[in-house]
Amino acid sequence: MSRAIHIAGGRALRGTVTVSGAKNAVLKHMAAAILAEGVSTFHRVPRIADVEVMSEVLRRLGADVRFEGDTAFIDTTSMDSFEAPYDLVATMRASILVLGPLVARFGTARVAMPGGCNIGSRKIDLHLKGLQQLGASISSEHGYIEASAPTGLSGAHIFLDFPSVGATENLLMAAVKARGTTTIENAAREPEIQDLIALLGAMGARIEGAGTSTLVVEGVPELRPAEHTVIGDRIEAGTMLVAGALAAESLTVEGADPAHLELVLSKLADAGVPVSVDGARMTVAGPGRFAPVDVATLPYPGFPTDMQPQFMTLLSLADGDSVITENVFESRFMFADELRRMGADITIDGHRAIVRGVKRLSGAPVKAPDLRGGAALVLAGLVAEGETLVGDTYHIERGYEDLVGKLAAVGAAIEWVEAEGGDVGAHA
Ligand code: UD1
Repeated sequence: MSRAIHIAGGRALRGTVTVSGAKNAVLKHMAAAILAEGVSTFHRVPRIADVEVMSEVLRRLGADVRFEGDTAFIDTTSMDSFEAPYDLVATMRASILVLGPLVARFGTARVAMPGGCNIGSRKIDLHLKGLQQLGASISSEHGYIEASAPTGLSGAHIFLDFPSVGATENLLMAAVKARGTTTIENAAREPEIQDLIALLGAMGARIEGAGTSTLVVEGVPELRPAEHTVIGDRIEAGTMLVAGALAAESLTVEGADPAHLELVLSKLADAGVPVSVDGARMTVAGPGRFAPVDVATLPYPGFPTDMQPQFMTLLSLADGDSVITENVFESRFMFADELRRMGADITIDGHRAIVRGVKRLSGAPVKAPDLRGGAALVLAGLVAEGETLVGDTYHIERGYEDLVGKLAAVGAAIEWVEAEGGDVGAHA
C-alpha cells in the first residue's frame, strides 16, 4: 500500500497559510555544517523527505543529526567518513553538495554520481571543473567521483559557463577555506544562495558580492559552527499563491519574502490575478478567469523553473493561448501529459509548451512525475470538476511540508488515502 492524495474539486479556499523554511536553502546549510567542527543549529527546518535524506548523508559521514521540532542540531565532531553513498545520492541529487565542504575540511571526498529528480539531464561538470580550478584532483571510477586536495585548496578565478545554483554553492563552500582569494563569476543569484552566504558569514567566512553575479571569497583557515534561521520557501509561497488564484475567496500567504517572488507576482498580475502585498503577507483572491501570459524560465531573478508547472496549471484555464518556454531544464514538461488527462490542451514543441486555455478541468487519477509537477497536479485537482487522485506522492513529500494539511486547513477537500501500490493512474 502506498499513499495517494484525494481531492474533491471546487471548494473555495479562505484563510492564511504559513510557508515553511526553504528546501533549497536548508539542504545546503546542512552540507555547510561539515565545514566546522562542533554543533551547528538551524531553525525553521522543514520536515520533508529531502531533509531526511540529507540527515542520513551526514550520519553516514559520522555526524550526529537530531531534531527538536523544526530545529536541527548537527554535530560534526566525530565525522570519520568522507563518502556519500549511491543509495542516498540516487534518492536526492542535492547530496552532491557535500563534495565542496568535505574537500575543504578534510582534503578528500568520495561522492556517488547523481541520478536525481526526473527533469532532464542534470550535469555536474561545472562543480567538478571549478573544484579542479581550486586545486582538487578529480577522478571518477565505479560510479563514484573522488576529489582530493591533501595540502588544501587554493583560491582561483572561476567563470561559470552557466549560473548553476548547485555549482555556485559547492564552489562557495569549497572556497571559504581555500588559501587566498577566489572569484566566482557568472554566479547564480538565487535568494537561497544569499541565505547560504549569510550562514557562511556567521561561521566566519569572508564573502563579498551576495546577491550579485560576482562573488569574492577570502579564504580563512577555520570556520566555527553557527546558529541560523532558514529563509521562507518562495516556491512554496508561489505554489500557494497559484492555489489561491485558482480557488480562493481570499488566501493570505505569509512567511516568505515577496521580494523573492517579484516576477511571479508580476506574471500573476499580467494574468489578471491581483496580489496585495503587506510586509511579508501576500493576499490573493480568485477564482476568476485568467488572461493568457507568456512565461520563460531563467535563473534568478528570472521566472523560476520551479514555478513553471504550477503556472501551466493556471494558464490551462486562461481565456486564450499562452507560450511557456523552459530554458533551465531539458524535460520539465512531463507533467503536461498528466494535466492533459484532466482536460488541459497543451502542445509541447521542444522546450516550448503552447497552452490553449480550456473552460474547465476534470478530475482524474494522475501521477506526480516530479516534485513541482506533482504540486501542480494537486493545484489542478483543487479546481477540477469531480475527484482527483494524485499518486506517486513521494515526489511531493520530498519538498513540501504538509501540503495536504495546509490546504485542508484553508478549506480544500483534500486528504491522504491509501492506494494499492502503483495502482493510482492506470498507466506507467
Ligand atoms: C537547484 C534547485 C532546483 C531548481 C534549480 C534551478 C536545489 C536543491 N535544487 O537545482 O529546485 O530547479 O536549482 O533553479 O537547490 N548544469 C550543468 N552543469 C552543471 C550544473 C548544472 O550543465 O555542472 C545545468 C543543469 O543540467 C540544468 C541547469 O544547469 O539544466 C540548472 O542546474 P542548477 O542551476 O545547477 O540546478 P540545481 O542546483 O541542480
